[in-house]
Formats: sequence, structure tokens, C-alpha cells
Amino acid sequence: MTEPATNVYIAGVGAYTPERVVTNEDFEKTLDTSDEWITQRTGIKERHYVADGQVTSDMAFEASKKALKAASLEPADIDLIVVATATPDMVFPSTACLTQAKLGAADAVCFDIVAGCTGFLYALVTASQFVKQGTARNALVIGAEILTRFTDMTDRTSCVLFGDGAGAVVLKPCGPERGIIRSLLGADGTLARLLDMPAGGSKMPPSHETVDQRLHVITMQGRKVYVNAVKAMGDSIVKVIEDAGFQGSDLDILFPHQANIRIIQSVAERAGLPMEKVFVNIQKYGNTSAASIPIALAEAVEAGRVDEGMLVGMVAFGAGFTWGAALIRW
Ligand code: ACO
Repeated sequence: MTEPATNVYIAGVGAYTPERVVTNEDFEKTLDTSDEWITQRTGIKERHYVADGQVTSDMAFEASKKALKAASLEPADIDLIVVATATPDMVFPSTACLTQAKLGAADAVCFDIVAGCTGFLYALVTASQFVKQGTARNALVIGAEILTRFTDMTDRTSCVLFGDGAGAVVLKPCGPERGIIRSLLGADGTLARLLDMPAGGSKMPPSHETVDQRLHVITMQGRKVYVNAVKAMGDSIVKVIEDAGFQGSDLDILFPHQANIRIIQSVAERAGLPMEKVFVNIQKYGNTSAASIPIALAEAVEAGRVDEGMLVGMVAFGAGFTWGAALIRW
């Protein structure tokens, strides 16, 4: 336990995406689909897939090493690891514990958070409370997903959307001049059935029947997810901006969860932001769920698009349903 912090900032970011690239043209060979349909309806051109044998904690480990380096920290300095994932290595132990072992971060408290595509924001907000309170000084927040292992590759309405990857950030205490200004999280479990993976848990343990009925893959009512995502993401980002006493035009850059370019455009319009201020990399990675915002952050930092003092927004929506937004003075 250290002193409570006035605020919490992101001291380093890192990302990892697997080497194998799957293009829209690749899907044209196996499905009744086209590059034109996928590009127009989603904005996705390609996505990255893990190699055989590669697991979620492997990617979390790679992204974490980069984030630690960027923050000039060693694994031994980390006292909290939170992994946001809906696609863990296994049901238990947590992917955070498995990542800790790979890193050799022996002094870290470790746990996972399941909040679908909003997972990174749930993890960020949760971990920041530990740092703010002084229970952790250096926290590693990771979003890591292998959605492609849980996707029905014969279902054209879902399989073209997803990709694999991981992103990580290091949180540290800071003074009032920077850090997380405002955040908002929300959920509506009554709509859980619209986006889920039905089997594999205590409700429907794995059996021949669940495998035969293809119940171990993502099922989704795409249009309903879309409509709810547009509304919840738009409402959330506008609320955090207004609650913090800003206007949309004050934002220097927005990192929306990368699910669909049309959702991103609607959210930008709702927040009163021109697309030049919205970071988009969906064309390269597809939807990497909890990894999408930290992967985008890492790319933006590397490209010099995020600088100290900038007002940075993040907003996401996902299974649960869950949603969230955050405003950060970088
Ligand atoms: N290729 C060609 N045609 C397709 C494909 C495809 N890959 N997928 C669906 N179609 C067809 C449908 O069968 C339908 O045909 P029909 O009219 O003959 O029945 C037609 O295209 C239109 O289908 P819609 O579902 O109405 O298309 P829509 O414009 O809603 O786009 C999409 C579908 C891309 C899934 C969209 O609804 C979406 O992005 N929803 C959000 C889903 C999402 O992001 N889920 C991830 C997790 S949650 C999150 O990250 C926010």
C-alpha cells in the first residue's frame, strides 16, 4: 500500500497482432460474400489470425512487454495485472495469472474481467481505482482476444468481422494536471442473449450435443447489436464529455471500439467530431473486441498522433450488453 494518488495516467502502451493476415478475398473463396459487401457494410479489409498453438496469454505477454518498455518498467515493478478477455486460455485460472507467470511479475495481484468488447474500458477503470487508492502503484491493463477460435467460419454474418490481437497499457499515479478525467460504465444484462456464446459454461457444459449443435461459437443478432451500439456509444461519449465540462470539439482524438466503420461514423457525428479526429484501424484488424482500443492507442502513439496534454476520448460497446467511455488528459 502506497499513498493515494491524485490521479492516474497511462505511462506506456504496447500492442501485438499475430502475423497471419486473412483478407476479404480469402473469404470470397469459402463463403457467399464479397470484398465489396464486407468493405461497404463494415469497413474491414483484413484481420490477423493467431497461429496454431498460440494462446491469449501469449499475445497478452507480447503486448505487455512493449507497454512495460514504453513505461521504463520491469515486470517486477508491476503490482496489478488485469486482463480483459472473453476468450481466455481456459475457464480458469485467469489469463492474468497465466500472463503474470510468462512475464515473471511475481508481485502482481491478477484477475480477469469479462465485459465483451467493453472489457478494456472496464479493466482500465477498475485498475485505475487500485492506483488511485494506493493499493497498486504500477498496474498493467491488458485487452487480449482470440475471437477466431470461437467463430463459426461458415456463418458469413459473423465470421468476416473478427480478428485476434492484444494491447496493453501501464497505469501510474500522477498529479492533477493529467490522467483519467472522467469515466462511465454501463450494462444491461436483459439483452445478453443478443450476443453470446451459449455453451461451455455451467449452463451448458461441453458435450457431444453442444458441439454438434455448434453452440461453442459466437451467436449474434447483428442488426440489434448495431442499433444498441450506436445509441450506447453515442450517449456514453457525449455524457463523459459534458460531465467533464467540455464539448465534443474540445477532444483532440477519439478511440472508438473498432466494430464497424458505420458505427464509428455515427458515434463521431453524435459527439460532433470530424472523422480526422477519430482513430480508425478497423480496415487492418477487424473487430478484436477487448483488444481493439489498446491496439489503436499503441498505433496512434507510435504514429505520433497522441501527445502529452491532449484530450483523449475512448468509447466502447459489447456483449452483456456493456458499454463505457473515458476521457483522459494525456
Ligand atoms: N456477405 C454478403 N452478404 C452478407 C454477409 C456477408 N458477409 N453477411 C450478411 N449478409 C447479408 C444478409 O444475409 C442479408 O441478406 P438478406 O437481405 O438476403 O437477408 C443482407 O446481407 C443484409 O444483412 P443485415 O444483417 O441487415 O446487414 P447489416 O447492414 O446490418 O450488416 C453487420 C450486418 C455487419 C453484422 C452489422 O449489423 C453489424 O456490424 N452489427 C454489429 C455487430 C458487431 O459489431 N458485433 C460484434 C460484437 S459487438 C460490438 O463489437 C459492437
